[in-house]
Amino acid sequence: MSDKGKFPHYMLKEIFDQPQGLRDTIAPRVSLESARVCLDEVRISEEELRCLRRINIVASGTSRHAGMAGQYMIQELVNLPVDVDYSSEFEYRNLLIGRGELTMLITQSGETADTSAAQREAKAKGSRTVAISNVIDSTIAREADGVLYTYAGTEISIASTKAFTAQLAVLYLFAVYLGQVRGTLRKDRVRSHLQELLEIPGKVEIVLQSAPACRRLAEIYHTMQDFLFLGRAIHYPVAMDGALKLKEVSYIHAEGYPTGETKHGPNALIDESLPVVIIATCDPEDQAAVLRYEKNLASIKSFKQQSGRVIAVATAGDEQVASLADHTIFVPPASELLSPILEIVPLQLFAYYMAVEKGLDVDRPRNLVKSVTLE
Ligand code: BG6
Repeated sequence: MSDKGKFPHYMLKEIFDQPQGLRDTIAPRVSLESARVCLDEVRISEEELRCLRRINIVASGTSRHAGMAGQYMIQELVNLPVDVDYSSEFEYRNLLIGRGELTMLITQSGETADTSAAQREAKAKGSRTVAISNVIDSTIAREADGVLYTYAGTEISIASTKAFTAQLAVLYLFAVYLGQVRGTLRKDRVRSHLQELLEIPGKVEIVLQSAPACRRLAEIYHTMQDFLFLGRAIHYPVAMDGALKLKEVSYIHAEGYPTGETKHGPNALIDESLPVVIIATCDPEDQAAVLRYEKNLASIKSFKQQSGRVIAVATAGDEQVASLADHTIFVPPASELLSPILEIVPLQLFAYYMAVEKGLDVDRPRNLVKSVTLE
């Protein structure tokens, strides 16, 4: 797994590894015929999970963006309050953590010092801890009560891609598992959620076919100095990670922002010199998503009126968005909570090709390391 093979960089290989990493992460935990998620590795009793009052997710960088998406998944499927914190900020927040609370540490490497420090503090305050890690027997995994491993395979490139989508899949599995254990999801709902999750790796393979289109976007936009990435609801963490990817590998300034917040400031920035990347997909089965979609159309129209240049990620076949945006990358239809796994792929590809266009060291960006093991 740690050989580049036919790929020019590890980052591109790891982007294309994602369907396999998702299959390896999902398959061992799903039993369709019994419509159940099997997560024994959580090692916290169902009784204790039924008594949980809150979940605190703590992570850094890309892993925290996965945690932000996980917050939407768990709150939507389990009606359980979830907080998400930066690992490096956790110690300053003096969080009133105690019994009946679960602290989840999301960490690809399992060695990030800030996340490890947060884990120690949560444990000292009496919280149970569960780690989501991509490295077997890593420090944070060993120190946790339970571990949900992602099986994305070794991730070499400093910018995290396949570990991120595998983290999203594990968080979705965990949310469905909690729904199953706490009775907020009936068996038929569990089955439909699992059925859709099992279809995601194949849908990622379809999105990967947009690589040439993402490369063409990089040829057009690689001289730009600033970008704004926008998303609403669970798509906001996707925008955050798309912006982080671009910053990390191309050294171009990029900001992830909730789409609805642009009118409170960032709108002043938007003109032909500041391209906007907006997640504007729509799950027509989800009424709340349809309302958000209508607002996204209005947002794109207003950016165009300000001479903004808009790159949209939309649902396949959506001619409305395509008629308004300057460029549109399509992803297959998916439910709101699973669509981030598809939407992040074109943003990963775009960031990769932007770095290549600029002739940069894609896999080892300046000033960054794969795991920050010192606080
Ligand atoms: C940074 C990496 O150093 O650490 C990011 O460059 C990563 O890609 C972040 O998201 C957190 O690392 P980890 O291993 O705790 O997920």
